[in-house]
Amino acid sequence: MHPDPQIIVLDAGGQYCHLIARKVRELGVYAETRPSENRASELSAAKGIIISGGPSSVYDAGSPTVDPAIFTRRQPVLGICYGQQLMAHVLGGHVRKGDKGEYGLATLELDARTDPLFSGLAGRQQIWMSHRDAVAAVPEGFTIAGRTATCEVAAMAAPERNLYAVQFHPEVVHTTRGRELLQNFVFRVCGCKPDWDPQHRAARLEEEIREYAGGRKVFFFVSGGVDSSVAFALCIRALGESRVRGVYVDTGLMREAETEWIARLPGISVEHAERQFLGALADATDPEEKRRIIGEEFVRVQERVIEACRLEEEDWILGQGTIYPDTIESGGTAKASLIKTHHNRVAGIQKLLEAGRVVEPLKSLYKDEVRAVGRELGLPAELLDRHPFPGPGLAIRCLCSRCDAPVRATSDGWVVPVHSVGVQGDERSYAAVLAIDRLDHEAGTELINRLSGVNRVIGKVAVHAPLSAMSVRACSLAGGRIERLRKADAIVRCLCHQSGFDGRVWQFPVILIPLGTGEAPDSVVLRPVESVDGMTARSAPMPQPLLEQIAGGLLALAGIAGVFYDLTHKPPGTIEWE
Ligand code: XMP
Repeated sequence: MHPDPQIIVLDAGGQYCHLIARKVRELGVYAETRPSENRASELSAAKGIIISGGPSSVYDAGSPTVDPAIFTRRQPVLGICYGQQLMAHVLGGHVRKGDKGEYGLATLELDARTDPLFSGLAGRQQIWMSHRDAVAAVPEGFTIAGRTATCEVAAMAAPERNLYAVQFHPEVVHTTRGRELLQNFVFRVCGCKPDWDPQHRAARLEEEIREYAGGRKVFFFVSGGVDSSVAFALCIRALGESRVRGVYVDTGLMREAETEWIARLPGISVEHAERQFLGALADATDPEEKRRIIGEEFVRVQERVIEACRLEEEDWILGQGTIYPDTIESGGTAKASLIKTHHNRVAGIQKLLEAGRVVEPLKSLYKDEVRAVGRELGLPAELLDRHPFPGPGLAIRCLCSRCDAPVRATSDGWVVPVHSVGVQGDERSYAAVLAIDRLDHEAGTELINRLSGVNRVIGKVAVHAPLSAMSVRACSLAGGRIERLRKADAIVRCLCHQSGFDGRVWQFPVILIPLGTGEAPDSVVLRPVESVDGMTARSAPMPQPLLEQIAGGLLALAGIAGVFYDLTHKPPGTIEWE
């Protein structure tokens, strides 16, 4: 299977926790995440420990902590963000509570030092910050190693005790020299030896599947996404087509031509449930309510399929495309865990799980490692490079409203009373949207930092009517709105594919919001983002001619009053709006 981890990442609740382990693996060293409270004695086999960031303040009751003994064993420890604050707090330094915090890019001034963590990294460099509290005084025996304009302890160290910490996030790509810092920690400080090859894993995984399955057959619910497709293809390779079956559920919430696309893949049949889902969702407006309904309908469909195909009989086991971040309870986003619950709640599946009749070939891999396996299997780039698409589909890209509400003019722009999800620090927010007249990303960031009650800024691209003539109206997903969004999404996808723009972005959600006029009640928001992993993202600019083409196509659709551009990075926004 996999080696014992040389690096253990202690999870203090941070959304970037998994990313740290993944980045270490990318360096060729096997790393795993564990709950932060693990005893020092349980961690002693590792060559080094990293404490992740997290949403709490060290002063909050019940906030994550670590066994203080990890700091006294000369086993190397690197604290990141909350990890730095925790290290400072536990060892007698002082952490200052902050109200507003610092989110986004900053410039680090790193001292010239001899200790191995910062070797070769002295000087000014771009880093990514996401924190409220900060270390105000380092513990005895520590020195400050770096600072930014607003954070006086951006890095601290006690090299003779092998203790290091940074306030910024070396694991995100926006910290330009973060990889080098992690490399220094793993190899220079901890002395790890390469033991993990994220390439060349397919043959080993196939062998594991054959061993586990014995003479049994494997059944999958596939989504058309990368994970379940790669897991499915691995099983076919390992066991042959006759022993592997896949069912894809058409919820009616998929993109245009998606079902036909998936039905072309070998070994997959389609279960049509469009009317069932859309009927159940007809009156829902709240995002979590929509997710709950979709989850429940999934359960019904899956039960039906399991019964019809007699999958509970002994010679069937269940295949799942679970990947490593899904397997750790404390990790992933709140949304990701919701998606998982509705799959796990199915009684038939639950029985298979309880009986240990489940094969999850990708369960120790991260997404990029899964893609590498897919490439090894010769799966088409068209499949492996697909943009991620959320399980609840277009339902969470079609915003609803419980009541009619006017747009409010302010000196900064128009406050649009639709609510979208955001993430500030490690916490999720749910707030209104500000519409401005220009496509200015910097203004977007500045406005969100300055204004309260707004977590997203959109720029006006083209409209049929002035914003002063628009309002938000009460609506659900009914009344052809999903169909309207599907058409809008198809226009955007087609133009982006033709121009090659889709290959330049990580994901490009197209969002429908109930902002418009009597004749044209909805508007479209374009949300192209650049990202490496979905954990952080930047709103991606688009060539003007393409934008004009897209806006023209969308405004020609019946029912569309305006086209807007989401200027919000993540954080403080999320990629999806719900
Ligand atoms: P956010 O919106 O949290 O999204 O920035 C990060 C990544 O997760 C995807 N996502 C989902 N995927 N079910 C899914 O299967 C969901 O409910 C869901 N919500 C977000 C999102 O598309 C992005 O890639």
